[in-house]
Amino acid sequence: MDKIIKRIAIMTGGGDCPGLNAVIRAAVRTAIMKYGLEVVGVKEGYKGLYKGDFVKLDLNTISGILPRGGTILYSSNKDNLFLYPFVEDGKTVLKDVSDVGLNNLKNAGIDALIIIGGDGTLTSGRDYARKGVNIVGVPKTIDNDLASTDTTFGFDTAVAVATEALDRLHTTAESHHRIMCLEVMGRYAGWIALHAGVAGGADAILIPEIPYDINKVAEALLTRKDNGKEFGIVVVAEGAKSLTGEMVVNQVVENSPDPIRLGGVANVVANQLEKLVGLESRATILGHLQRGGSPSAFDRILSTRYGVRAVELVMEGKFGNMVTLKGNKMSFDTLENVIGQEKCVDPDGELVQTAKKIGVTFGD
Ligand code: F6P
Repeated sequence: MDKIIKRIAIMTGGGDCPGLNAVIRAAVRTAIMKYGLEVVGVKEGYKGLYKGDFVKLDLNTISGILPRGGTILYSSNKDNLFLYPFVEDGKTVLKDVSDVGLNNLKNAGIDALIIIGGDGTLTSGRDYARKGVNIVGVPKTIDNDLASTDTTFGFDTAVAVATEALDRLHTTAESHHRIMCLEVMGRYAGWIALHAGVAGGADAILIPEIPYDINKVAEALLTRKDNGKEFGIVVVAEGAKSLTGEMVVNQVVENSPDPIRLGGVANVVANQLEKLVGLESRATILGHLQRGGSPSAFDRILSTRYGVRAVELVMEGKFGNMVTLKGNKMSFDTLENVIGQEKCVDPDGELVQTAKKIGVTFGD
């Protein structure tokens, strides 16, 4: 693709996340106000790229969207153009239709594409970069599981929502002498559970990176009970698994690039703890509340920094990269490095150890 940049496109893909609109706003403002570029939005992620569904983005379109949840461009987590499902003779066959997207970009005169997404969306971004498209990625996900960046935008808001839920569960747990198990999202990483658990004063935090022994969790809650605290708060990451068990799958979404939807482990944990500890137990599955609504101040700022830096990378010709946050500094890394390197919680890391020092059990 030509490196003289006049017209760029922005796309949001995968599950939505607080801060998407803040990134779009920052990127559009930078592109127009600093560089005098034309900007278009690709609607509904890769589906829009396939259909050539583009919309002009100007200063008016993005006015007022900074605090808005969701994405004004819509999103989809089902459309991998490198393996696109078609039904032929009653059977689903997967075909590589990525060239359709490529031609749509060329026909629309788009010189570079900023892709705001998580692992799945950015994997296709890397594959388009390999095909010569001028791609810059922005790391989005409440799960915070993308490599090369310390923090993805959306994570801080999800942690805040989960922390507020824990505060609310505390009072009802205490009133009824119950164990309340809060299940939070995060896929195969325990970042939301760990951070919300520490911020919300949980007694136990169960994460995929540390397989738990339910008897050890029960022991900790029994000790609390013996000390007069007849209630307990347990944060369970949706990907948590016991030493002997598997992750709990709620749904298999056949036409999704990552078809597994986790969910329900908090019910299992609550039922077991009720029997072992002798306190009535309940499970709350927080679900998509963690993804919806207005971004936190931190996420608005981070999203703005990512959006601005993404456009700068485009103008510097640094394609095939994703913007990153390292410490408090903006940087970037190649999509080749980012993809396939899931960032998980280090069981020996500082925050896990801090939690353990104040008596939080991880069931290990
Ligand atoms: O990756 C973001 C995320 O919210 C995960 O935490 C969760 O496992 C998954 O997406 C849920 O996907 P869906 O919106 O398809 O139910």
